[in-house]
Amino acid sequence: MRLASLLVGILASFTAIATPIADKVLVPGSGFWTKTNIHEILAGGSLSRVGSEIHVLAANGTIVHSTTVGLPAKVKSEFSREETGWITFAFWLNTGSSPISSFTTTWTVPPVPTENHSQTIFLFNSIQPTDSAAILQPVLQYGPSAAGGGAFWAVATWYVGPSNTFFTTPVPVAPGDTLNGIITLLSSNGSSFSYNSQFTNIPRTSLTVNGISELKWATETLEAYAVTSASDYPAGSTVFSGINLELEDGTAPNVSWSPVNDDADGLSTTINTDGATNAAMTIKY
Ligand SMILES: *[C@@H]1O[C@H](CO)[C@@H](O)[C@H](O)[C@H]1NC(C)=O
Ligand SMILES: *[C@@H]1O[C@H](CO)[C@@H](O)[C@H](O)[C@H]1NC(C)=O
Ligand SMILES: *[C@@H]1O[C@H](CO)[C@@H](O)[C@H](O)[C@H]1NC(C)=O
Ligand SMILES: *[C@@H]1O[C@H](CO)[C@@H](O)[C@H](O)[C@H]1NC(C)=O
Repeated sequence: MRLASLLVGILASFTAIATPIADKVLVPGSGFWTKTNIHEILAGGSLSRVGSEIHVLAANGTIVHSTTVGLPAKVKSEFSREETGWITFAFWLNTGSSPISSFTTTWTVPPVPTENHSQTIFLFNSIQPTDSAAILQPVLQYGPSAAGGGAFWAVATWYVGPSNTFFTTPVPVAPGDTLNGIITLLSSNGSSFSYNSQFTNIPRTSLTVNGISELKWATETLEAYAVTSASDYPAGSTVFSGINLELEDGTAPNVSWSPVNDDADGLSTTINTDGATNAAMTIKY
């Protein structure tokens, strides 16, 4: 029951509008946002939550920007998950007392889609607090987003908080490139947790976030917007593999991945190898 109600809450908060809204931009994991409250983090920068503020630090430790945590800045409107948003994904919730200390995933950059309808495709592993008010994610993107982009694949790490979104400068990647997305717990003190996320093999994708809530909900996700035909997706399938979860106490958790599919889209996630060690799953387009 807890999982079911959690899932409903997450679907409600991660669905997106179907009708265009002026001055909106796409944020992976979260949908459409107004253009304000979106921040690019330059190489070596980091984030620190201090009381009711999030400080953006330059590589040399100087505070270059401060924002208040505040209320969500997402565009509030009607939405249709059938047309947009999280298309298919698998999740696992850590209900144990030891926090997730590491979450890795490997996948390959797919071919460029054969059609261009200005669609956006996001592929990522991600981790969220149980209230789903934030998400930390190393993201592969095709098409436009709040970080820019176009008819090519690019990677960036994103931290989407309740009222502000932060991303590293996107780095273009090529079909066939191997991506290693990782989220690591750096330290914790009571209810304050510090994480880093990056693509381990791609420089300038590293983003550290200090002083946030524990991240417990792990996902492997395909999210897409403005897809109008099957060939707006890449050909073939994407395999998320090398999926490893470790806990702060040094053990591997008992993981059973729960796939969530949108039958209307005909896209699904198949769990090939379940568990917390070298798990694998396939999304067929
Ligand atoms: C630290 O970095 C910021 C942003 O790049 C720069 O404006 C500032 O001058 C630097 N401060 C020092 C002391 O180097
Ligand atoms: C994709 O379509 C958009 C909108 O029609 C256009 O602006 C863009 O140049 C196209 N990109 C490519 C690579 O064809
Ligand atoms: C942990 O948090 C407490 C309470 O905020 C603080 O007094 C202490 O210095 C912190 N410890 C570390 C190692 O940061
Ligand atoms: C993991 O699951 C197995 C089999 O259900 C059980 O015996 C074991 O105690 C579980 N371990 C933990 C850490 O929950």
